[in-house]
Amino acid sequence: MLLFILGQSALEGVKISPKEKRNRGPPAVGDMEDMVRENDGVTAGDPAAVQEMTTVSVHHFGNPVEAEDGFSVTIIENMKEEYGLFVWPCSVILAEYVWQQRSRFSGAAVVELGAGTSLPGLVAAKVGADVTLTDDSSRPEVIANMRRQCGINNLECKVMGLTWGLWDSNVFDLHPDIILGADVLYDSNAFDDLFATVTFLLESSPSSVFITSYHNRSGHHLIEFLMVKWGLKCVKLLDGFSFMPPHKASGLSGDIQLVEIALASNHTTES
Ligand SMILES: C[S@@+](CC[C@H](N)C(=O)[O-])C[C@H]1O[C@@H](n2cnc3c(N)ncnc32)[C@H](O)[C@@H]1O
Repeated sequence: MLLFILGQSALEGVKISPKEKRNRGPPAVGDMEDMVRENDGVTAGDPAAVQEMTTVSVHHFGNPVEAEDGFSVTIIENMKEEYGLFVWPCSVILAEYVWQQRSRFSGAAVVELGAGTSLPGLVAAKVGADVTLTDDSSRPEVIANMRRQCGINNLECKVMGLTWGLWDSNVFDLHPDIILGADVLYDSNAFDDLFATVTFLLESSPSSVFITSYHNRSGHHLIEFLMVKWGLKCVKLLDGFSFMPPHKASGLSGDIQLVEIALASNHTTES
């Protein structure tokens, strides 16, 4: 079993270089015809530069024209920033999954980790979930942008800083039914902190599930290794493109997987 020969070196092999970060392709914006530029004052400084950096993309779910339950979500993005202010492809895939699984989300308590531009969490809120959007407490610009996303979409999500592996008092108040995370498995240095937080949240409501979409750089073995280490199990594993409508899939690239993770039946809080 590969599980048992994977060690720290295997984890380190997954860390991506700054060059690769940039080569991951442009942010996965919604339909390009809907993209408009606007200056919303996200960044102080030269107004022309701000206008250059900030865009709004619109993401459709269902058919807003023909289907009664279809809708659009508008996202403010900053094209010059690294992580947290783009809509990454994993986020588009996870958001589509939330839409297609919407009956599970209606009325559920949902926490999105590393939410960034928050598309999956916003879709969950649209279909009736009670959503808390979270991101790194040390990135106030990302958290401020999450609040803007809620405002622009007329959604009342809670927004808070939650840094993986840190136990601020507000973390203890979270009892999610579903935890979401799009493209949060990209830096192996953060994997254990992320899984520590995920495991803590799963323990806080034992029937809950963590649904995450990620770039599959080293096979599913890495996720398996982390699940075994943290006393978790995979309850569903999908090719991220297997459920995407063709018109959305054609704008995305990469080997993206989606996995649902829960506490293993032999899980103990000491693990
Ligand atoms: C690749 S981005 C993905 C953003 C968004 N989920 C998406 O897919 O568009 C990774 C996100 O994780 C957040 N993040 C990174 N390290 C973190 C940490 N230690 N604690 C909490 N959030 C973190 C970043 O701020 C960023 O928003």
